[in-house]
Amino acid sequence: MTEGPIESRSFIEGDEQIWLERARAGSIPRHIGFIMDGNGRWAQRRGLPRTEGHRAGVESLRAVIPALINLGVPFATFYAFSTENWKRPSEEVHFLFDLLVQYSKEDRRELTERGVKLRAIGQVDELPAAVRAAIWELERETSRGTNLTVNVALNYGGRQEILRAVKDIARSFAAGEIDLEKLSEAEFAAYLYTAGQPDPDLIIRTSGEMRLSNFLPWQGTYSELYFTEVLWPEFRPVHLYKAVVDYAGRRRRFGGIEA
Ligand code: FPP
Repeated sequence: MTEGPIESRSFIEGDEQIWLERARAGSIPRHIGFIMDGNGRWAQRRGLPRTEGHRAGVESLRAVIPALINLGVPFATFYAFSTENWKRPSEEVHFLFDLLVQYSKEDRRELTERGVKLRAIGQVDELPAAVRAAIWELERETSRGTNLTVNVALNYGGRQEILRAVKDIARSFAAGEIDLEKLSEAEFAAYLYTAGQPDPDLIIRTSGEMRLSNFLPWQGTYSELYFTEVLWPEFRPVHLYKAVVDYAGRRRRFGGIEA
């Protein structure tokens, strides 16, 4: 009875291929944001500790990165730890940090080989020394990647990011370096963590929750939002391709009217 499982597996792979081709035939986002939600629920439904959901979530991240490269998406941001996540039990917080350190060691080579440039965005200086060291090493090793820039939002909060930009601008103003009257949106954006990157065309949130939770509030003003019931540990390339097909079918007007 080995035929059943093999047949169903090839069906899934075929399905993925079809959705990849459909996605490639349409408009490809230049930047996709991911709110990776539902790890805890995924684990609890299996009678596992919540932390196992985060471990499984890393596998989804590992699967999605090559899929982004397959599609030709040049920028992606993954919300891994928000400034609000400190409210969680300290064991869970530390598990997440340990996972990041482990991931950075295990995947450094593969990321480099795939041409991924990885950057951490957020208040990284407030993270434990081992996490900062792992990030620093990962950023340094992947700095020449040209296929895909991956921002990992770590200790990231959108309002904090905007406030930080305002404070930096005030300092530049006090130093006589900028003319406030001439400060443009583009110049303001240069003070954000995502300076020099396109705004996300698409933001995907898993697990059925429909909010942005302080994720890229400035950059996401005109992002298309895609919500799926799929929990992050179950999110696979086929789900990404379906989201991109959905995105390509949207009419983006940016406040104007259709031509
Ligand atoms: C939300 O699920 C997920 C997080 C707070 C953490 C996301 C982190 C990962 C997927 C690991 C990333 C790791 C690296 C190495 C970058 P939740 O716990 O809020 O789920 P729930 O809403 O079901 O409780």
